[in-house]
Amino acid sequence: MSEAVIRATGLWTPPHSISNEELVAAYNAYAERYNGEHADEIARGELEALTPSSAEFIEKASGIKSRFVVDKDGVLDITRMMPNIPERSNDEPAILAEIGAHAARDALERAGKTPADVDGIIVAASNMQRAYPAVAIEVQQLLGMEHGFGFDMNVACSSATFGMQAAADMIAAGNARAILVVSPEITSGHLNWRDRDSHFIFGDVATAVLLERAELGDGGWRIIGSRLKTQFSNNIRNNFGFLNRTERATGDNRPLQNGSPKDDRLFVQEGRKVFKEVVPMVSDMIREHMDDLGLEPDQMRRVWLHQANINMNLMIAKKVFGREAGGEDAPTILDEYANTSSAGSIIAFHKHSDDLKSGDKGVICSFGAGYSAGTVFVEKL
Ligand code: COA
Repeated sequence: MSEAVIRATGLWTPPHSISNEELVAAYNAYAERYNGEHADEIARGELEALTPSSAEFIEKASGIKSRFVVDKDGVLDITRMMPNIPERSNDEPAILAEIGAHAARDALERAGKTPADVDGIIVAASNMQRAYPAVAIEVQQLLGMEHGFGFDMNVACSSATFGMQAAADMIAAGNARAILVVSPEITSGHLNWRDRDSHFIFGDVATAVLLERAELGDGGWRIIGSRLKTQFSNNIRNNFGFLNRTERATGDNRPLQNGSPKDDRLFVQEGRKVFKEVVPMVSDMIREHMDDLGLEPDQMRRVWLHQANINMNLMIAKKVFGREAGGEDAPTILDEYANTSSAGSIIAFHKHSDDLKSGDKGVICSFGAGYSAGTVFVEKL
């Protein structure tokens, strides 16, 4: 069996950022217009008036201050409230493959490797652009690989860690020399920007993790152990899919997404329940995995956690370290990037791991819809 190491990570950040203040101004203008247009139904009690969003609430409840998006104008246009992503022909690169390839090239460059060194691409993300052909196969083509394989997998916010374990296992079994786990997330496409409870949550990004057989290079991170867990829950759902159209009565030709606050089959969650249930699930999972690896809290240098909520992360970090923990112990990128689904813990690792020394240990940990959670314990080489 060959050991797999994380050789390098890559990041692609979209060009546009939206602050909480800009987002709230757009939402509140939309709510005011909606209330005006539906004043009679609201007065008769047939519709509920929309209440304003607040930048203070968003930062306090979540830790998010801004988010990157592939298109800012469309999201802030109150007559649209979704990104403008013009359709591309089949001969042009799909946007998800394109941004995934940017992150993949960044990881390869940092590792001093080329696509010729890679045998597999796993696109591990929450929000796939299409059913097939697999986005991963298009990334493989964009990188100019004329060998190897690619496939897509979706375990929601835990996709990247599940992809890393799959990649490490395939490398260990001798089925690939190196694999890129690519997580392109255009969450702005599946977020209902007209929903006050969730309009602030997500942002767009792409990350890549290059895993390689240990003896084929130098540097990076040894994987001490990885573990995956799922447990069914309805508290985070996205019911958008190709069967939606078959649920319509004959003759009902309304557009599938008619833009009303309720009709979009997009992201929904019971945020408070998620918070309460996922914090103990993830804390216990990390502590049990630490015990099995013989790691004491003071041997842990850092946790790179999924980025959904700063308060959740502080509670999980406290449990892991057995003391108040934050800042350097559990770096946050949520303030700048918001929740980027599967990419969050990888961005945290990418931006906050260079300062660690050889022998330092930590855990990359994802969690999210499913529920799903993954722990990848690493040691700097
Ligand atoms: N602006 C102002 N007020 C808002 C608001 C907004 N945008 N959204 C909700 N509120 C209000 C609610 O109406 C509610 O008011 P009330 O107390 O008068 O009823 C109050 O704020 C609290 O709402 P709640 O939804 O309970 O907030 P919260 O403190 O639970 O924070 C989340 C919401 C989503 C930030 C938080 O629950 C969370 O992050 N949970 C974890 C989610 C998670 O990890 N998901 C994984 C996804 S990958």
